[in-house]
Amino acid sequence: MRGRFSWVGGVSAGLVLCLALLLAACGGGGGGRGSAGADPLAERGEQLFDQYGCAACHSVKGESGIGPALNGIFGKEVQLEDGTTLVVDDAYLRESIIDPDAKIVKGYPKGSMAAGIAAYKTELEKEENLEALVAYIKNLK
Ligand code: HEC
Repeated sequence: MRGRFSWVGGVSAGLVLCLALLLAACGGGGGGRGSAGADPLAERGEQLFDQYGCAACHSVKGESGIGPALNGIFGKEVQLEDGTTLVVDDAYLRESIIDPDAKIVKGYPKGSMAAGIAAYKTELEKEENLEALVAYIKNLK
């Protein structure tokens, strides 16, 4: 009896592991690639975008997901939850990445991005990583 139970446990643990691997393969394969073009900095940004899980919440092809789509936002107006608007520039992109709750895009939840990237905070605060991500997002048409 006991042996049978642990067998069942083993199978479900195996299943969970398989699922985790599948998901990792999915994320690494990078659905929804943008056109980073030939800019090496933007290309590095694209890798980081997958690596840090940004792609899980942000489309780069225009559909809104958990977060807004990030293509074509540079230089455009964005409406914030507090009723103000601003034009997306470098400073706003940088702030949105390292301090996501500083300004909340209208219609989207506060706190979810901060929670989603908490594990990568130190990495994201490194200038070279932040610069690459900003370059990538600016490049998304
Ligand atoms: C758990 C989901 C989630 C993850 C992971 C996530 N974001 Fe976000 N992001 C959001 C949500 C929700 C918003 C809108 C609310 C806000 O302004 O914080 C947002 C807003 C943004 C904005 C502002 C967009 C605009 O239209 O003004 C940028 C830029 C951004 N995220 C970049 C990133 C980058 C780069 C990463 C990876 C390092 C990332 N996000 C990871 C959910 C996420």
